[in-house]
Amino acid sequence: MNPSPLVVLGMISGTSVDGLDAAVVQLTEDDDTLVVRLLGYHEGEVDEALRRRVHALFSPAESRIDEVCEVNVLLGEAFARTGAVAAREAGVELDLVASHGQTVWHQVAPGRTRSTLQIGEPSTIAERLGVTVVADFRPRDIAAGGEAAPLASYVDVLLFGDERQSRAIQNIGGIGNVTWVPVGGRADEALAFDTGPGNVLIDHAIWRLTDGTQRFDRDGALAGSGSVDQAVLGELLGHPYFAQRPPKTTGRELFGAQFVDPLIDRAERRGLSVADVVATLTAFTAHSIADQYHRFLPAPPDEVVIGGGGSQNPVLMGMLGDLLAPSRVLVHEDFGLPAVGREAIYFAILGYQALHGRPNTIPSCTGADHAVVMGNLVPGPNYLALVERVAAMTERTIRRVVIERSDQQDPPVSGK
Ligand SMILES: Nc1ncnc2c1ncn2[C@@H]1O[C@H](COP(=O)(O)OP(=O)(O)O)[C@@H](O)[C@H]1O
Ligand SMILES: [Mg+2]
Repeated sequence: MNPSPLVVLGMISGTSVDGLDAAVVQLTEDDDTLVVRLLGYHEGEVDEALRRRVHALFSPAESRIDEVCEVNVLLGEAFARTGAVAAREAGVELDLVASHGQTVWHQVAPGRTRSTLQIGEPSTIAERLGVTVVADFRPRDIAAGGEAAPLASYVDVLLFGDERQSRAIQNIGGIGNVTWVPVGGRADEALAFDTGPGNVLIDHAIWRLTDGTQRFDRDGALAGSGSVDQAVLGELLGHPYFAQRPPKTTGRELFGAQFVDPLIDRAERRGLSVADVVATLTAFTAHSIADQYHRFLPAPPDEVVIGGGGSQNPVLMGMLGDLLAPSRVLVHEDFGLPAVGREAIYFAILGYQALHGRPNTIPSCTGADHAVVMGNLVPGPNYLALVERVAAMTERTIRRVVIERSDQQDPPVSGK
């Protein structure tokens, strides 16, 4: 017997802090298949003052514990507002919220205790939206010996597993990450790791070189008008991260302001134009992705499926098409997924699985000792009804995720 569907709101703010992504989905179980119907997608604004305070937390020299404490609650309020808009536009009552929050520190390099911190207080979200919330996903995988990333691997394998094609599912957010989905979609043969920088270096360069008036290279306009400095590109690709074997993850801790600032200083001294700097950083992102595929994927993928904000940059996409040939390059939209909404949808699924007490990780991808149920529960007024509903279903294993593509009206998509 299949249970009635649940309506779940998934939310995340990525490393770019460019907006709060919120997806409302209806999740229906059909035996071992989870059918996802997108009911609405909304990208909430982070106001400039809050964005600056979040950015300050990324720097250990600047961040203060009273700021961490306060921004945690302010982000919780911002997520709650974004989620409320998404639910209203979708015209539904929520059964569950799954909120990833905002990563402010992710420490997995050797030498210190592995740890990760996501903020955006889930209790605030539960209080404002009046519904049960699952949040704080990553620490559980860390506790099981993993790197708590990339978490998309779990859903990637269930969604993109195919009997004929191998696929590389590439996200280009602030950081780039890939999931290798082998032919047949076997989880124990999947591989996932961060490929290196996504848009983070480009964004920082633009922000600095335009004195904070622009935040990203819209449509690759600057990159397209500059030329790539091959010597600098070669040097950047020599970074030790690229030689490190997966599983591995990275973040602003490695590829952030402290990485790109000296580079810009040098470029300015050598008379490179702003466009040349941005072109070189864009090429760096594209080459690092291709380099990591050559080094670490078991074979060239038949298909590469690209999503995240970087997929909106035609210069970056053009470079990737050239470098990844003969793999076919596709985008998330080809599979019924919004370009930048994938992760919000994924967290809805991860939260749904957590509610059912079902493991929602692939240990071979995160490096953990075993699969775990990630996510802490904040019970809302509907908690007991939820528990009653899911109690009979916990033994079921979900082996496939499909995105339902309706020929009817498209769901509401709104935001910046
Ligand atoms: N039209 C566009 N042209 C170029 N870059 C874009 C465009 N739209 C989004 N981006 C890039 O994508 C980034 C946001 O991507 P996203 O997937 O939301 O990353 P994150 O998961 O880190 O938040 C922006 O900071 C920007 O660099
Ligand atoms: Mg984002």
